[in-house]
Amino acid sequence: MSTERPIFIPVILGTVRQGRASEHVARFVFDEIKKREGVQSELIDIRDLQLSVTDAGEAIKEAQFSATVNRADALVIVTPEYNHGYPGMLKHALDTNLKEYIHKAVGICGVSAGGFGGTRVVENLLPVMRELGLVTIFWDGNFSGAQKLFDAEGKLLDESYVKRIDKFLKELIWMAKVLRYGREQVSL
Ligand SMILES: Cc1cc2nc3c(=O)[nH]c(=O)nc-3n(C[C@H](O)[C@H](O)[C@H](O)COP(=O)(O)O)c2cc1C
Repeated sequence: MSTERPIFIPVILGTVRQGRASEHVARFVFDEIKKREGVQSELIDIRDLQLSVTDAGEAIKEAQFSATVNRADALVIVTPEYNHGYPGMLKHALDTNLKEYIHKAVGICGVSAGGFGGTRVVENLLPVMRELGLVTIFWDGNFSGAQKLFDAEGKLLDESYVKRIDKFLKELIWMAKVLRYGREQVSL
């Protein structure tokens, strides 16, 4: 057994919509992360954050969310595509932290009803990631036709996603390790 400190990769479920298919995607990715030795995860549902909607930014920090992001080595953001963009509530939640993100890895999973697997929302989220100080990887998760991808219990119906997410997570974990080394060993 490794004595190394586990890499910590929370998964952010980025929509509050009732009946959201993105929840199945987030749970699937969360379960896949947890299977890996030396990696820990937590599922952060932005619906649970109870953020004020009469203010914005770091002024409305949610202590536990900020502490979890601060402890993270990397994040997975699961975002549905809404009118080719990301949900406003996801941005509202992300905006409550700043230094907590810096020099940490991020991988994005786009979820769409259409056939492009949320590629447009992923592209739209990339500049936001950069401004937050997160380091994006060059693989994404792309979940097309999301309503039909899972059964009523949330079981994945297309096994090909297991292999694709494996590739995505390998890259994310590598980047998380490299950036942890950088944060701890390389002065700026
Ligand atoms: C306001 C809104 C806008 C949407 N816009 C798009 C879109 O631009 N492209 C698309 O493929 N699906 C679109 N959808 C469908 C969602 O992508 C679909 O519901 C998918 O399951 C992911 O969202 P969900 O987690 O809310 O279910 C939209 C859904 C909503 C509620």
